[in-house]
Amino acid sequence: MLDLAARRREFPALTTRVHGHRLAYLDSAATALRPQFVIDAITRVSTHDAGSPSRSVHALAEAATEVVDTTRREVARFLGGAPDEVIFTSGTTASLNLVAQTWARANLARNDVVIVTELEHHSNLVPWQMICAEKGAELRIAPIDDTGHLDLDRISFDRAKLVAITHVSNVTGTIAPIAELARRAHAVGAVLVVDGAQAVAHLPIDVAALGCDFYAFSAHKLYGPTGTGILWGRTSILEAMPPWQGGGGMIATVGDLTSTYREVPTRFEAGTPNVLGIAGLGAAIQFTRTFDPRADEARAHAGLVAAVHAAGGRILGEPELAVVAFELPRVHPHDIATLADGEGVALRSGHHCAAPLHRRFSALASSRVSVGCYTDDDDVAQFAHALVKIREVFP
Ligand code: ALA
Repeated sequence: MLDLAARRREFPALTTRVHGHRLAYLDSAATALRPQFVIDAITRVSTHDAGSPSRSVHALAEAATEVVDTTRREVARFLGGAPDEVIFTSGTTASLNLVAQTWARANLARNDVVIVTELEHHSNLVPWQMICAEKGAELRIAPIDDTGHLDLDRISFDRAKLVAITHVSNVTGTIAPIAELARRAHAVGAVLVVDGAQAVAHLPIDVAALGCDFYAFSAHKLYGPTGTGILWGRTSILEAMPPWQGGGGMIATVGDLTSTYREVPTRFEAGTPNVLGIAGLGAAIQFTRTFDPRADEARAHAGLVAAVHAAGGRILGEPELAVVAFELPRVHPHDIATLADGEGVALRSGHHCAAPLHRRFSALASSRVSVGCYTDDDDVAQFAHALVKIREVFP
């Protein structure tokens, strides 16, 4: 098992000097850094396994096909599902839009209800706004309390056809009670869609234990490349779903006026597969099997919370892991981000693609630090020191 120091050595980006300082990368919730193992896997496909998968039959194309097939099996094992339940997409956003444009378009009727929560970032809100408007369905927003947790007894599941929720909030860092939500959704015949973007790098995922019907995530928050994501779906549901995008790879037969479609999951994968991204995702999953970051991440997370409190900051919610979003009185988040960058600290400022959630906390924007498997005590100390310097500029 790779310890923290050994893990850090795997990430070339951590050697970057920023304005004369060591880099304290505290923006993994926006995008995680990539280890050399992932970079090498992408390079290998670029240089050798460079054909078009599932199309040509020459050696390079066969090698690319093997990359896609192997990664599909890796992802299935990672999530606890079956390979045929794994759909390659361009990211969490595309995965959620796929459910909205296929399952929801086929199954929602006027006055049906889609439930989301106040926790959702835009990717798990806007697709449901769009399809509800189109179908005349109602979008119901389940409230959270000031800690960032849901009170399930305050959610009405009346007329619900679909429930969509983030597994871990990218702002409050709270973990949603997915298994219990699945039970309540299924009791009224609704499907449960889980946005796992912020969860996959921090929690073990088992879709069977969670009981969800769809699970979406992106490779780039799991130490893989951008532009690559997964939609896992329960076989019985996928098989009843119409395709969304049409094109090469997803067809069985093509007539002049109509076509028939392939089996799942390829029915949902029109166009040449993103082999570079898929290779990187497969390598990222293999890489995450070489360590267990939870104890180190928990220590770093507690250190970040303490640093914000010491600087007199207000934390949005009571984060359990991964992220700490905060406000400092009298300091704009963009000023915090700019001054922190001057100290070598990379953090995110803005609404983190979750504007309604910020309104819920009466904040226009916030600053956010987030942990990765490489976050160490020096990163935390550098952040605490940056906050002291920011306080000197904005007392
Ligand atoms: N990728 C967005 C974030 O930084 C949603 O949390």
